[in-house]
Amino acid sequence: MRLTDHEQAMYDGEHGIAKQKAMDLLVRYGNALGAERLVDTRNVAGTIGATTPFMRKYADEAGGLDAVFSEFNLDSREVVRIPKVSVYSSHLQQGIDPEHAAEQGVGEDVVRIFRKGDAYSAGLGVQLLNTCAPYQVGNLPARGEHCAWMESSAVIYINAVLGAKSNAEGRESTGAAMLTGKIPYWGYHIDENRRGTHAIDVDVPIESMSDWGMLGYFVGDRVQDRVPVITGIGRAPNMVRLKHFGAAAASSGGVEMYHIPGYTPEAPSVEAAFGGNRPIERFVFGRKELRETYDNLNATASDVDVDFVMLGCPHYSIEQIWEVCQLLEGRKVHVNSNLWIFTPRATKQICDQNGYTRIITEAGGFLMSDTCSALGRVMPKGVKVAAVDSAKQVHYLPAIMGIQAWFGSTADCIDAAVTGRWNGGLR
Ligand code: F3S
Repeated sequence: MRLTDHEQAMYDGEHGIAKQKAMDLLVRYGNALGAERLVDTRNVAGTIGATTPFMRKYADEAGGLDAVFSEFNLDSREVVRIPKVSVYSSHLQQGIDPEHAAEQGVGEDVVRIFRKGDAYSAGLGVQLLNTCAPYQVGNLPARGEHCAWMESSAVIYINAVLGAKSNAEGRESTGAAMLTGKIPYWGYHIDENRRGTHAIDVDVPIESMSDWGMLGYFVGDRVQDRVPVITGIGRAPNMVRLKHFGAAAASSGGVEMYHIPGYTPEAPSVEAAFGGNRPIERFVFGRKELRETYDNLNATASDVDVDFVMLGCPHYSIEQIWEVCQLLEGRKVHVNSNLWIFTPRATKQICDQNGYTRIITEAGGFLMSDTCSALGRVMPKGVKVAAVDSAKQVHYLPAIMGIQAWFGSTADCIDAAVTGRWNGGLR
């Protein structure tokens, strides 16, 4: 890999041991990928906290959070002192919501280490957005901006919807990028890799958020990690719909980039979306495929008694919480059920101001932040059957937690929370 003078100096240790280790990691990683060089980034979204029980043990030992960063972000058994980050960096979701530890069955010790981790991250200059959707709360990359982001649902969003450039990075590479402002130049940093490879012709009206989730799930399953170009979309999607589309496509496949000609920034036309490529394969998404996808997403569920409704995957926007409150106001969560809604910390604060937290709480639900059920493995005790409005969450939650899960619209899910029964269906 070719290094600039500045990169070589960091690699040689002239800027301290932590940056040397970060450069060593990036060079090894870049070489493994076949990258010829690094690229400058000014925007990193990653994870540096002690998010698992194994890491928490490190956090309490002599090296503290520096030991966690050294081992899990820099691949170094030697504990080095970690300096402040060099570029704008955001923390992604974590393992718990410290404000709802009791509901999540989390002990005081875990909360203490969580708060220690937050203070450590803030001390390094990492923004505590603590969400899988940083673009909803202040980290909004510009078109063409080279980024180093983890979290598949966020990477596909900033690539396809914002026109920023990132691969789905890992904890190690984002930690190293925070310290150096560098990331290997490969994959979706390179324009020719962003061109469409597969054609998806939509032949059924796609309107609701759950429609977009199902379309995304179908697309990911068909194209895996390639670049789909979706045509046949009528009404313009919005942020929420594209967020659910991308999260689903990145779950059933490994999609990190897509185009919707006329709507996404690098696709003013179908021709521009393909950039001279001939589609490798063409798929139609019609009523039959919509039905099959719906049935597929509901394959784990048979019991209609729902004891848990989980909303907010990816973390809900303020618009989604406003919609939920319209459905929920004046109603009560069924005595046999639970309602947990996840949102970024900053959005929760707006909800507190707007009275949405009160509406949800008065109904018997909880508005939580910082984590989610699948990632944090946090659910009410004894849950057997969940209901969700996210194709991504229904892809993971039953497998991770060993439960049944229904997928449907947000209205179906609120109805399930209030009645304790699943009455949803494809309408
Ligand atoms: Fe976010 Fe959890 Fe979904 S971290 S994207 S809410 S699986």
